[in-house]
Amino acid sequence: MTEELAFNSKHTIAYEANARVSIPTYDMLFTMVQSYFRAQLGEKEPSLLVVGAGGGNELAAWGPSNPKWTFTGIDPSKEMLQMAMHKSIQLGLESRVKLIEGTIADLSPADSKFDAASCILVLHFIKDVQQKLELLRTIKDKLKPGAPFVLVTAYGDPDDAELQDRINVWKSFFFDVGYDSSKLDEMGKGIMNISFIPEQKIENLLAESGFTNSTRFYSTGLFAGWICHAE
Ligand SMILES: C[S@@+](CC[C@H](N)C(=O)[O-])C[C@H]1O[C@@H](n2cnc3c(N)ncnc32)[C@H](O)[C@@H]1O
Repeated sequence: MTEELAFNSKHTIAYEANARVSIPTYDMLFTMVQSYFRAQLGEKEPSLLVVGAGGGNELAAWGPSNPKWTFTGIDPSKEMLQMAMHKSIQLGLESRVKLIEGTIADLSPADSKFDAASCILVLHFIKDVQQKLELLRTIKDKLKPGAPFVLVTAYGDPDDAELQDRINVWKSFFFDVGYDSSKLDEMGKGIMNISFIPEQKIENLLAESGFTNSTRFYSTGLFAGWICHAE
């Protein structure tokens, strides 16, 4: 498949549109994280680790206006990474972007440690709590002491009515752009296939992985974001 065809594939185009319906503040999230990283990283020439870089939205949001930042993006999806590469080339970022097809285990142990990392909208695709912990621990091990880390993931207790209320809010975002009710009911059931865990458990996982001072800075519908620092 040529890069252009892959970029235009149904799946990747649907991702771009759906993300912004599912999370109406999706673009603002990247702006907020950029502000946080800028304040934390100052005038350095920082190296950023982007876990789940598929689609390239972190690169596109942060690359152009931060010419000193370099990015290492990791993602197991070839198709999503092709989209990330396409965006990097279009924005003239390719000399500052390295993309790795795989998981964080595929990062070379010889790579020097990073100044900052993000893991945006990835953790809820990992079902097993032990594997979530391993991913967070490995990210922490790849960071310099004190480096800022941003985690954004779905959250909530699957057995609590509070999550069902937020799923109804989430369905209303799609209703508003014209989805019909039968499709929305299906989507409401389907979304329970991602791995929701309660907020407190996410904060415990961050602490157990070696991140300190975690603070929730963002929340929209089903998703929330935490800032914290590598020990
Ligand atoms: C919803 S997309 C988010 C992409 C991007 N962070 C964003 O916010 O636009 C989730 C991405 O996580 C990737 N992913 C799934 N499991 C992963 C893992 N274990 N490590 C890194 N990326 C993973 C998927 O391939 C997919 O590209």
